[in-house]
Amino acid sequence: MVIAHTIEEVHTALRQVRIPGRIVGLVPTMGALHDGHRSLLHAARARCDNVVASIFVNPTQFGPNEDFGQYPRTFDADCRMLEQESVDILFAPSPEEMYPAGADATANTVVHVAGINERLDGASRPGHFDGVATVVTKLFNIIQPQLAFFGQKDAAQVAVLRRMVRDLNQPVELVVCRTIREEDGLAMSSRNRYLSTEERHQARVLSRALIAAETLAKNGEGRSAAMIDAMRTIFAAEPNVKIDYLEIVNPDTLLPIADTRTGALIAVAAHVGTTRLIDNLLLLA
Ligand code: PAJ
Repeated sequence: MVIAHTIEEVHTALRQVRIPGRIVGLVPTMGALHDGHRSLLHAARARCDNVVASIFVNPTQFGPNEDFGQYPRTFDADCRMLEQESVDILFAPSPEEMYPAGADATANTVVHVAGINERLDGASRPGHFDGVATVVTKLFNIIQPQLAFFGQKDAAQVAVLRRMVRDLNQPVELVVCRTIREEDGLAMSSRNRYLSTEERHQARVLSRALIAAETLAKNGEGRSAAMIDAMRTIFAAEPNVKIDYLEIVNPDTLLPIADTRTGALIAVAAHVGTTRLIDNLLLLA
C-alpha cells in the first residue's frame, strides 16, 4: 500500500494506476477503523480496480464543543486493516494540507447543501454537513474516483451527499453499504470506544427501539406517530440515554412523514452519558 500524506504524493501514486477503463474507488474515513469501515473497503475491493482509502479527521465538520481533540487516532492499527483489505493507496493528509488557509469556515470556499443540511444531525450540529460536503468534494476533486463508498449508518450524511452530487453534477457514483452491528445490535462506531461498560450496555436501547419499530411495521402499523410513541417508551426505560432526535422522515429529503408505508427512514440520535450515538433503519415501501 502506498501511503500519501500530500496531494502531490497521492497524484503521483494515482498517475501510475489511472488507465482508461479502470475503475478507481474511494472510501473516505476519519480513521479509528472498525468492521463497519472494513465492509466499505471490502465492497470497494470487489467493484474497483484501484481502491483508495482516506483517513482525515476533518476539523470543519466538528462544532466548537465537540470531540475533534479527543477523536480516536489509531493510525498504525488502521494501516494494518487497510493492508488486510488490499487497499492500494492511503491518502492521509494533515489539516494544513487540506486547509492551507486554516480550517476556519470564513477562510474557505464551503459547499452548502441548502435545506437538507439543517435536518437531523444538521439541526443538532450546526455547520456539520457544510464541513462534510466541503471535505468530501475536496476528496472527490483530489482523487477523482468513479465510485465512492459510504455507510447507511450515517443516513443523513448519505442524503446530503446524494443531493450534493446531483446538484453539482459531480462525476462520481455513490455506493451505500448496509450498517454493520455488534452482536447485540449496537451499530459499530469509532465513538463506541468512549462508552464505559455500563454505558455500552445502555447504548443497546437505540437498536432495540429501531427493531421494535420494524416489528410494528411488519405487523401492519404505518403511522409514524404510533411508532415514535412505542420507541419513546423503550427509551424511557434507560434514563441515562437522552434522545437528541427521534424522527421518521423521507430518506431523500429528510423531511418528516406521517405514514411509513411508502418507505421511510427511522433515525435516532441520543446521548449516552457524554457520548452522542446515531442509528437508523430504512423501511422499504
Ligand atoms: P467515519 O465516521 O470514519 O465513517 C466513514 C464511513 O464509514 C462513512 O461512510 C460511514 O457511514 C461508514 N460507517 C461508519 N460506521 C459504519 C457501520 N457501523 N456500518 C457501515 N458503515 C459505517 O463519515 C465519516 O467518517 C466522515 O463524515 C467522512 C465521510 C469521512 C467525511 O469526513
